[in-house]
Order: sequence, then C-alpha cells, then structure tokens
Amino acid sequence: MKDNLQVLLSEEEIRVRVQELSVEINDYIGDDEAVVVANLKGAVIFYADLFRLLRGSVRMDFIETQSYVGDKSSGAVKILKDLSEDPRGKKLILVEDILDTGYTFRALLEYISSVHKPLELKICVLLDKQENRKVEGLDLEWVGFTIPNKFVVGYGLDCDQNFRNLPYIAYKTS
Ligand code: IMP
Ligand code: MG
Repeated sequence: MKDNLQVLLSEEEIRVRVQELSVEINDYIGDDEAVVVANLKGAVIFYADLFRLLRGSVRMDFIETQSYVGDKSSGAVKILKDLSEDPRGKKLILVEDILDTGYTFRALLEYISSVHKPLELKICVLLDKQENRKVEGLDLEWVGFTIPNKFVVGYGLDCDQNFRNLPYIAYKTS
C-alpha cells in the first residue's frame, strides 16, 4: 500500500456491509419498479457492487452534477448528465459515495424531486461524514458507514481524480 494512505475500511468490511444494505433495499423495492441512480463519478464502484445484489424490477441510471464553486450557501448545482429513464410512478433510489456538508446533495435531491417526480425518492449513501453536515433534515434511508471528518479515498472516491481504483477505503495522510 502507498505509505501516505491508512486503511479505514477493508475490502471485506465493505463487501459485508454492501451485502447487508442490499437485503434492506430489496425489502424496500419488493414487487415494485425501481430506478437505481448512481451519482457520477464517485458512486460508481459502490453502485456496481450493490446493483448486482438487487432483485426484481430494477433499472440502471446515472446522473452527473457539478457544484457551483463559490456558491456554497445556495448549494446550486449544475446537471452535467441528466437521467435517461423516466422515474414517474417508480421508486427512485439515489446512490451516493459520500455525504459531507450536504449542500450539493440537497440541491440534487430538490432537482430530481421537482423535475423528474418519482413516486418515492430514497437515498443510499456509502459514507456519512455526519460531523461536517451543514444542511438540516437530509433523510438518509441507508448509510453504509458513519466516518470521522477526514479526507478519504478509494473504492470510487478520489483526490484530484486519483485513487478511485483502490479496492479499499483509506485516509489520505499527506
Ligand atoms: P457536499 O456534501 O456537498 O459537501 O459534497 C460532497 C462531495 O464532496 C462528495 O460527493 C465528494 O465528491 C466530495 N467529498 C467530500 N468528502 C470527500 C472525501 O473525504 N473524499 C473524497 N471526496 C469527498
Ligand atoms: Mg460525489
């Protein structure tokens, strides 16, 4: 392992937790139709592992957003790639890698609810940096792990687009 990384969650710990989450999400989906959406790019690795454990009528979709730099208070978000599925009348599960302040995520939720109008919108986030939350009232249905307020990489998460390919999640120590 690179010497500036310290493992926080091993491959095995992640695998076990993703399996547990999939059981709960399968219960929620039941016999209904669901659109499962990955928020690009960071959520892709988690999403791929989770999605293959889902059963029933699930559709795959992706959204890509960019925060407006210097506009954190409004949390405005630019949609770089929008959904291609129509989630009206379906359950929509938004899969995210990490929730930090919550500004970007809140704007994304508002966008999906008002523009795409799914039957229900639920959130599945792998990592929750709860201590650093700046936005009230985000209802996270499924959380993989609550982690300390430190910068993490791996399993899809990047630092300047590097380290997404690590199979584990690590703190970046320098
Ligand atoms: P926020 O919740 O609006 O503050 O933004 C969360 C976004 O910041 C995530 O989707 C990630 O792209 C990025 N992010 C926050 N914390 C980390 C981290 O520890 N490692 C890698 N990316 C992070
Ligand atoms: Mg992200």
